[in-house]
Amino acid sequence: MDIVERYRKSIAGVVPLETPIEFVRGEGSYLYDAQGKRYLDLMTGIAVNVLGYGHPAILQALDQQAHQYFHLYNGLGYQRIVADFAEVVQSIAEPDYPVYFGNSGAEAVEAAIKLARYATGRPGIIAFRGAFHGRTLGALSLTASNANYRSGYEPLVPSVYHVDYPAPTRLNLTPEQALHHTQNQLLTLLSDEIDSSRVAVIVVEPIQGEGGYVIPPDGFLPWLAELCHQHGILLAVDEVQSGMGRTGQWFAYQHAQVHPDILIMGKALGGGLPLSAMTARRDLMQAWTPGTHGTTFGGNPLACATGLAQLHVMKTEKLVERAHKLGLEALTRLRTASAWPGVVDVRGRGLMVALEFRRDIGGSLVMAVMEEGLRRGLILHPAGLNHEVIRLMPPLNIDETVFNEALTELLDIVQGCTRPLS
Ligand SMILES: Cc1ncc(COP(=O)(O)O)c(C=O)c1O
Repeated sequence: MDIVERYRKSIAGVVPLETPIEFVRGEGSYLYDAQGKRYLDLMTGIAVNVLGYGHPAILQALDQQAHQYFHLYNGLGYQRIVADFAEVVQSIAEPDYPVYFGNSGAEAVEAAIKLARYATGRPGIIAFRGAFHGRTLGALSLTASNANYRSGYEPLVPSVYHVDYPAPTRLNLTPEQALHHTQNQLLTLLSDEIDSSRVAVIVVEPIQGEGGYVIPPDGFLPWLAELCHQHGILLAVDEVQSGMGRTGQWFAYQHAQVHPDILIMGKALGGGLPLSAMTARRDLMQAWTPGTHGTTFGGNPLACATGLAQLHVMKTEKLVERAHKLGLEALTRLRTASAWPGVVDVRGRGLMVALEFRRDIGGSLVMAVMEEGLRRGLILHPAGLNHEVIRLMPPLNIDETVFNEALTELLDIVQGCTRPLS
């Protein structure tokens, strides 16, 4: 029986496959299929594999921890590897915030929502249209990037409110107008729908990921932090996709000089193994009564070991600075496409880079670009509410020449796909 038939019989179809390829191994920035064809992976398992595949430091850390033990329940007793990793996470995030470990991004979002409600005694949660925070029921109640994700699962968690994210191209506004628009929506929400004293938390992606790599206007996060401060509302930033050095800072909020009350991370955190974390102000964490939240696998020692090894490599090889530099170069190159018909925007921060196409035809253009990319050995990934965006999230240690060649290839593909529009 071939793999297609085996999948049809054994795997739930709810996760559609983006390619018909059987992948068998990865090495460095490349994936290989069952026929030995090589693909440059520009999506890294959706912003997970920061060091690509098979990095010796990760393999060594995994092997060493595996020979000690794979799993202990985190509540059983002290584990040095968990403390080691938590301290390094603190060193790149908010140094005094205790860390709660989970497994997936959605689970860290759940933890953030639960902590916010528990610590404030308030029910309200505010999130943004276009946001993706995961698919478990609590996280899904905040997710608003596709009605498809929510339909059929209602009723979702109550007291969740959405306002527009300041996304200039989505709103057809200049950045300044988009910022004012969002500010007005939030202020109206707090005056007309829910009293600020009933709002526990505002949850925000500093750069919307799934929503299309949307970079908000500069003043947005500081304004939001100030609004929260004025009303005793907690500010939670979801860095599941934008975190771990990808944007040229360890976390995207650090570009804005704000300090969130709650910080949510996942994806790349565990060096390729499932791991997420939620860190929060010490007084909030202290208000979280022991035993009121927890999980079996959170802070798995294998994932802490690989996460630690990855962070060590990132620090010694200065990969965060490298993401900044390569990202700027990539933007300069890709901006030649801005003038092409059908291309609406080229944007990015660090190695979180996006090409946005006209909304009405973007979905089919992106499909065509991805298909041709695959034929030429490039793995690309869509984003945006109508899949009108190609997002690039390569490994942060990708070879510079290889990356440049991939950009040349991508530009050629985009030009070929958009030429018929002129
Ligand atoms: C910003 C953000 N938050 C949360 C999640 C959910 O993470 P997971 O799929 O690990 O549950 C994602 C996943 O793409 C994400 O991009």
